[in-house]
Amino acid sequence: MNEYIDRLVAAHNSSFPGAAHPRVFSCPGRINLIGEHVDYNGGHVFPAAIDRAVYLCVSENASGLFRFHDAGFQDSGELPLSLFREGIEVPRVWLYPAGALAALRADWDRGFDLSYLSTIPVGAGVSSSAAITTVTLFAMAKTLGMELDGIELARMGQRVEREYAGVACGIMDQFAVIHGRKDSAILLDTRDLSYEYLYIDPSRVRFVLVNSGVRHSLRESGYNDRRMECESALALLRGLGAKIDHLCDLSPVDFMPLGPSLPPLELRRARHAITENARTLEFLRRMRSGDFSAAGELLYASHASLRDDFEVSIDQMDRLVEWAGGVEGAYGSRMMGGGFGGCTVTMVDAPSAGRFAAEIALKFQEEYGAPPGVLECAIGDGVSELIR
Ligand code: GLA
Repeated sequence: MNEYIDRLVAAHNSSFPGAAHPRVFSCPGRINLIGEHVDYNGGHVFPAAIDRAVYLCVSENASGLFRFHDAGFQDSGELPLSLFREGIEVPRVWLYPAGALAALRADWDRGFDLSYLSTIPVGAGVSSSAAITTVTLFAMAKTLGMELDGIELARMGQRVEREYAGVACGIMDQFAVIHGRKDSAILLDTRDLSYEYLYIDPSRVRFVLVNSGVRHSLRESGYNDRRMECESALALLRGLGAKIDHLCDLSPVDFMPLGPSLPPLELRRARHAITENARTLEFLRRMRSGDFSAAGELLYASHASLRDDFEVSIDQMDRLVEWAGGVEGAYGSRMMGGGFGGCTVTMVDAPSAGRFAAEIALKFQEEYGAPPGVLECAIGDGVSELIR
């Protein structure tokens, strides 16, 4: 039992005195090794769940309300059940829990108390929103006895982002936090959601996240713009005769003769998606063969493509990646997630992880005057029930 669960259950009992039989669930955040901005272009992504999670304690109440408590921020709120029956607009307060409750489209006839405690940094690009949404969906589905498989759950979580949070995201984050497995990354084909695990020996390779300190919000960032630009590139390529349903259906070789006919912006967006998909598959091959240095080179190449062609990086992340390249033990580094802030992910030789983290933090402090958040994360399991 970990200390967070004890803290959460204590907070739940004091916020909701007399709570009957609380159940406790958890859902991790995720990293993505490579395959960025391709999950809505029919490409391959390579995420993994991490050992940081949102914990949720649930119990039934007799008040006819959903009552919420955030044990980390000491914040509380409540929403009437009728709100969810009428299907009216989900309020922006408690957006993700409320969005999940609305997405379940259950016939709510009793209220519930839900307490949350998160160890996932917010705005760092490690999918804290997918974790909150997924743990709520998973917990309430279990509590109501609804049978939902992992893919239905992931699609429901994606709908919450799209319909209630206004982010036209792909399915990577939700998929990863549900299907995560200890010490394994997930190679997911987003065209048909087939996937395979790659075991990553934690005594050989670790992943270190360094936060740029710029809090990103996909809603306000250019995320939806990028999606539209990719759609425009796809339509133009089809107009040029490409028989494809997604950008990533094209190989870099097939794209070569078509690219120059695209306007410069669409050329850059399409080139990123198509080469990133190829890099992701090549990364799997190099990791399998145990050539971590060669695999790491693809992380640097992914960063360059996200910076130059997809234009979602920022200065701080470019600097962090550049510095990582000069630190001994770093195999490769790149910005991670949607971009416009958040963190970089660096693959490092496991025994060097601590030293890498210290060195990069020092460089950041010297340049920007404040230490960055650094997270040496381990790869963990997906959403689960902890106490019943
Ligand atoms: C965010 C989205 C994902 C994915 C990444 C970029 O995390 O939620 O669906 O598109 O950005 O790879």
